[in-house]
Amino acid sequence: MQAAAESLRLQGKRIALVPTMGFLHEGHLSLIRLARQHADVVVTSIFVNPAQFAPTEDFSKYPRDLTRDKSLAESAGTGCLFTPSTDEIYPSPFLTYVTVEEITSRLEGKFRPTHFRGVATVVAKLFNIVKPHVAVFGQKDAQQAAVIRQLARDLNFDLRVIIGPIVREPDGLAMSSRNVYLSASERAESVVLCQSLQRAKELVSGGQRQSSAILSEMTKMISSKKSAAIDYISIADASTLEEVSLLTPGPEILVSLAVKFGSTRLIDNILLTV
Ligand code: PAJ
Repeated sequence: MQAAAESLRLQGKRIALVPTMGFLHEGHLSLIRLARQHADVVVTSIFVNPAQFAPTEDFSKYPRDLTRDKSLAESAGTGCLFTPSTDEIYPSPFLTYVTVEEITSRLEGKFRPTHFRGVATVVAKLFNIVKPHVAVFGQKDAQQAAVIRQLARDLNFDLRVIIGPIVREPDGLAMSSRNVYLSASERAESVVLCQSLQRAKELVSGGQRQSSAILSEMTKMISSKKSAAIDYISIADASTLEEVSLLTPGPEILVSLAVKFGSTRLIDNILLTV
């Protein structure tokens, strides 16, 4: 992959990287199409990264379908599919990790303390392997997007990070490879996530500025669903990810949440400005 990337660069081609863990859906494909607008060759990587799963999480049962992924990735404009093995990415002994501080301790980091170290490490490695001019990630994982922007800036990766919008199912559920875990009743109840985010937006448009009032209405909506268990609902400054109690004009606000439906943990978010 490094040799192929170097050869493309010597031919003057611009490379875009779209990192994924596979089981591709329309959200991933939208990023590949977006990447194609910014580069001559799109490299899509598929690697289920063990370093970002805690021992109790779903690494071994994470859905996989490489044959289907290959044709979907190609039809969306992937010029090169990179599917390394675990041993290639983590040869033994593997002793070097990338840690992004502060912004990784909030939100997801509170519930998944080793997750972003695994993400930052594999993404830094993919940057060095694929040598992209542009790297494309999704707003679906808002905190991950912030972590990667910080990583690229702090370690002087010579590339541009682009964030694509969240792609949703017709009823509003954010697309995710993990949605296949949901039972029919959990799937029906999961629509409340985007509905509660829309409600937050309406409340802010209607003049509500108190985070506590917005959070309590969202909590009420989500808790009314039998299978829902809230990990967190947060209203935070979109760049620092620090909680804000009073919304003020200017800074972008990230309303984000993580909720378990049965054993399936879903995340979603919306960006707002006052
Ligand atoms: P994965 O969950 O496969 O997601 C790959 C990329 O697709 C991420 O940038 C994610 O934000 C984006 N994405 C997922 N669902 C989306 C949706 N509904 N709309 C728009 N974009 C969406 O995120 C990862 O993999 C991994 O952490 C990775 C970055 C590959 C590192 O291992």
